[in-house]
Amino acid sequence: MAEIIDTRTEPERAIEKACAVLSDGEPVAIPTETVYGLAADATTPDAISRIYEMKGRPRFNPLICHVCDLAMAEAHVTFDPVSRRLAEAFWPGPLTLILPQRRESTVHTLASAGLDTLGIRMPDGFSRRVIARFGRPLAAPSANTSGKISPTSAAHVQADLGSRLKLILDAGPAAIGLESTIVKVENGRLRLLRPGGLDAAEIEALTGLAIERPEAAGAVIEAPGMLASHYAPGAAVRLDADEVRKGEALIRFGGEALPGEADAAIVLDLSPGGSLREAAANLFDYMKKADASGAATIAFGPIPSEGLGEAIIDRLQRAAAPRG
Ligand code: TXA
Ligand code: MG
Repeated sequence: MAEIIDTRTEPERAIEKACAVLSDGEPVAIPTETVYGLAADATTPDAISRIYEMKGRPRFNPLICHVCDLAMAEAHVTFDPVSRRLAEAFWPGPLTLILPQRRESTVHTLASAGLDTLGIRMPDGFSRRVIARFGRPLAAPSANTSGKISPTSAAHVQADLGSRLKLILDAGPAAIGLESTIVKVENGRLRLLRPGGLDAAEIEALTGLAIERPEAAGAVIEAPGMLASHYAPGAAVRLDADEVRKGEALIRFGGEALPGEADAAIVLDLSPGGSLREAAANLFDYMKKADASGAATIAFGPIPSEGLGEAIIDRLQRAAAPRG
């Protein structure tokens, strides 16, 4: 099992140990405000290939590079004016920008999967301090086996990858609970490659640009990790349920009971009070709990599609997609 260091009680030991393990070319699981990440030195091919190995992830899938400040970002990518405004407004935070990689950038092509762009973001919270001390960008996908649900706690990471990992930094439950929103600016157009923890409406309000959305989930693999069958729990998933069938697990939203609940394996409510923010933070944890109930199917009640509901529904559609 991996060593877990609590960053709230032992911040200095956490940073030192993390930097030592990273310097050895080994991945470390780090807390970010979105989900826990499996981080490695983005400039070292051996370290990056260990991430792919641990996750069992297809190689064509590029990783997000995490930086501690704008200066570190500017050493690796060039900003257009719109992307710069977005970075200044929303970093540190749950926003990933796809930007042209600079010639001088030392981020290895294994992290970008050979693309001429980098996905880059400045995370909020303890991981930013680790990056600042380490002094180089960290490539980090979510810290889960490929195709599984993203981890929002150190315990999730330990259960999935603990036997292969050396170190997990524990900062408590992820505050946002959904991966970052990914956008790409092209010829003054703003494209949403992945809905996520930053509400697309906030991006539109800041830029005055209408955001262009991808086709239906999985139709266009623009962000190559957006495979339709991502985020799959072990159980089958049934969306927009208006009743529960005997033995199903139920995950609902908004505090209203559904017909048939008495015969459900487990009933969880993402936010009884109807907050999409709270629902996002609970989503992956509740999917794991529903899975652990042993039910063959997880039924989801209806979820509003506005605001963060867009990202939640995107993840559920992927979870429900036919398995490859
Ligand atoms: O919140 C998050 O974004 C978390 C935390 C750990 O930061 N990370 C995360 O990484 O979700 P991952 O690897 O699960 O998803 C990265 C996504 C993939 O869909 C990938 O295809 C896309 O970012 N991506 C990365 N670089 C890209 C690029 N140059 N062009 C297009 N898509 C890119
Ligand atoms: Mg992931």
